[in-house]
Amino acid sequence: MVMSKRMRVAAIDTSTDMLAVCVAELDGAGAAAPAVRVLASGDHLCRRHANVELIGSLDAALAAAGLSLGDIDAVLVGRGPGSFTGVRIGISTAKGLARGAMVPLAGVSTLDATAWRAWCAGARGLVAVAADAMRGEVYPALYRIEDAGVTRLFEREQVVKAADAAAAWAARPDAEELQLTGDGLVRYGKLFHEAGLMEHALERDLWWPTGEGIVRAAAAAGGPAALGDGDPALVLPIYTRLSDAEENERKRLGLAESPSAQATGVADELAGRHLQYRPLGAADAEAAAALEAACFAGAAHTPWTAAQFLEELSPAAAVPRSWWVAHDDGDLIGIAGGMIVDCDVQILDVAVAPARRRAGIARRLLAHVSYDAQMLGCTTASLEVEAGNEPARRLYAALGFTEAGVRRNYYGPGADAVVMTAPLPLVLPVDAASPEPTAAVRRAWPQPAPARTPDEQAELARRRPVLAIESSCDETAVAIIDAEGRLLANKVSTQIDFHARFGGVVPEIASRKHVEVIVGVVDEALEEAATTLGLTGGALAPAELAAVGVTQGPGLVGALVVGVAFAKGLAYGAAKPLITVNHLEGHLFANLLAQPDLKPPFIFTLVSGGHTMLVHVRAWGDYEVLGETLDDAVGEAFDKVAKALGLGYPGGPVISRLAEEGDPQAIAFPRAMMHSHDYRFSLSGLKTAVVTYIEQETAAGRTIHLPDLAASFEAAVFDVQFKKAWDALKQTGAREYCLGGGVAANPHLRQMLVDKLGRRGVRVTLPPRDACTDNAAMIAEVARRKFAEGDFSDFSVDADPNMTL
Ligand code: KG4
Ligand code: ZN
Repeated sequence: MVMSKRMRVAAIDTSTDMLAVCVAELDGAGAAAPAVRVLASGDHLCRRHANVELIGSLDAALAAAGLSLGDIDAVLVGRGPGSFTGVRIGISTAKGLARGAMVPLAGVSTLDATAWRAWCAGARGLVAVAADAMRGEVYPALYRIEDAGVTRLFEREQVVKAADAAAAWAARPDAEELQLTGDGLVRYGKLFHEAGLMEHALERDLWWPTGEGIVRAAAAAGGPAALGDGDPALVLPIYTRLSDAEENERKRLGLAESPSAQATGVADELAGRHLQYRPLGAADAEAAAALEAACFAGAAHTPWTAAQFLEELSPAAAVPRSWWVAHDDGDLIGIAGGMIVDCDVQILDVAVAPARRRAGIARRLLAHVSYDAQMLGCTTASLEVEAGNEPARRLYAALGFTEAGVRRNYYGPGADAVVMTAPLPLVLPVDAASPEPTAAVRRAWPQPAPARTPDEQAELARRRPVLAIESSCDETAVAIIDAEGRLLANKVSTQIDFHARFGGVVPEIASRKHVEVIVGVVDEALEEAATTLGLTGGALAPAELAAVGVTQGPGLVGALVVGVAFAKGLAYGAAKPLITVNHLEGHLFANLLAQPDLKPPFIFTLVSGGHTMLVHVRAWGDYEVLGETLDDAVGEAFDKVAKALGLGYPGGPVISRLAEEGDPQAIAFPRAMMHSHDYRFSLSGLKTAVVTYIEQETAAGRTIHLPDLAASFEAAVFDVQFKKAWDALKQTGAREYCLGGGVAANPHLRQMLVDKLGRRGVRVTLPPRDACTDNAAMIAEVARRKFAEGDFSDFSVDADPNMTL
């Protein structure tokens, strides 16, 4: 990022209840810290409403400054720490704004912005910020404030008990001089008062960060150019703790028992029927050493031994470690680990079984290690690689590692080591579409507008490409579709590995991963669309889109807000209309990707991880929900049964694979509500029946025949689905039927419905299999229709986790 002499910036921060907005001019003519001139501010307290008000407040501030976003040279954002959702909204919006306007993005600590807010108000001396971290905790931060500026007296943001922060500050010899501020005083003021610290507290209206505080913190650091290279993909929240699920998982690291045996009482050989990733445990040490020996026999790198792995797991290790393994069918096939020194994760080892190479396993393992490292405050990764090991060097280069030096004869005479370093997060290619890493693309920011020929411009005007974003659960997906319904790009980055070991989606991890990958997935889609269209001047620019669509709900609220906030920023930044899409309608519209002439009226069955519905589609947009599940969704039942068997997450694919070879009549599981004479479903009883069966068989010392169990379970679910779908067709007189949702990918369900309903004269439409599980192509299909109808959304829309059809 190049710092021009004078630049205009837009700053936002929603990490606290203060919605902080500022438009300012930085004058950096040769000075280390550019001078700040505030043009307009829009700071106001706005509790839990940031996603509704943020773009409007920014728009108002820009208008007050007589500007539009097109006049802005860089976006600045507060990276927290603060409310997880608040930080995510600010950062996602800022990423969208910067990407949409093709300007650089830079982030600063919200704690620094709070200290600068005090500076603006004239506070001088020793200032202690206690920012609210909820749950009895604060983010403590100590600053020296002088006329010349604000100096940090701590290294890294952290979270501590409010009482501990109070005790530590009260024990300082200079406690008398401390002036407290920060929004943590609202909740814990009494505690700080009792510690004798509130006497010199700053006035209450200074306890929050301001937009000007963000701008001044950035200016003091040398301006946006000094804060990174400007790529919006690389700006991430400041986290001070892992998700609860991961904290607990870490505590489990090093336990001797196998987690699956512990959780289910099912034999260990059932675990890991398919490729999965989990943290290294003590029980893996022997297998890990064997893998090392197989990988590095005769190589310069000395294989790690079992004893060394055990040492890595020891809680007594001086610095934090992160080790991950890949396993398949119970076999350990890959391992990678790193240790955290200051803010760098030093990759100690990467090994993948020779037969399993070139499948992206090393990349996935490194993704897990570097994710842990990032959560522990790392900003870079480093490693050594044999100079002669070309494949490894290519892999690392694709992940964003660049050569930082050479260690001569490091691995013995003549065997040099190349030292490579990379900024975090690593460059992780989008999974489904491109399993092999492509070369890392590092863009120069700000990005120039692509050059187009008049013909290309005419083509784009005719195609009217709509970009759609899906982030309701654990896939970050982006698709671009043209006005005629042709897909120009379809990308998905799945987080399944990050959730698999928990047996289901962990909402906090899902939200974090969306924030981390969303810009990368959008970039890939924009590039793919340019390739599809044969454009020569580079990736599609946001300004060349006709509109931006996004899933508004239903789904996980923390996941949805990332997509919605980003999409709003992108649309506003590129000055394009915003379109919101109902995820369930997306699953329905996936059928149009297979059968463009599908027309209501028809019966639609939605079977996904969160929903089970039978719907009479009377017209597009006119949905009569005939019945829903009373308890678990069908996909959820698959997931719970798989979890009970120690088969990991998600359950659908592994159970349907097992069912291939099973007998659907082997075990008589109940067909709940089969004869209830309505369209309601219930699946929790079936799940209980399966779990009881597993327990009984295990107690009786019999081994469970997994294929039979899987096939019998499927049959019990699908029989009811068919019965009620056929009843609905008869009752409504509809002659068309279609299916949607993740479970619609199940080959047995598809075949059965085509056979049985086809025989009865019903035309059955099925979405393409890869459009059944969550994807953005289906969202794009809905968005395209809404675009044609001019059905746009206001920038005040928020995610709606409880939307229905
Ligand atoms: O639609 P989806 O991707 O996410 C939601 O909107 O919920 O559905 C995910 C669900 C998971 O429960 C997964 O186990 C299930 O779809 N699923 C399957 C299959 N593939 C995915 N269920 C049965 N058979 C499959 N082949
Ligand atoms: Zn879905």
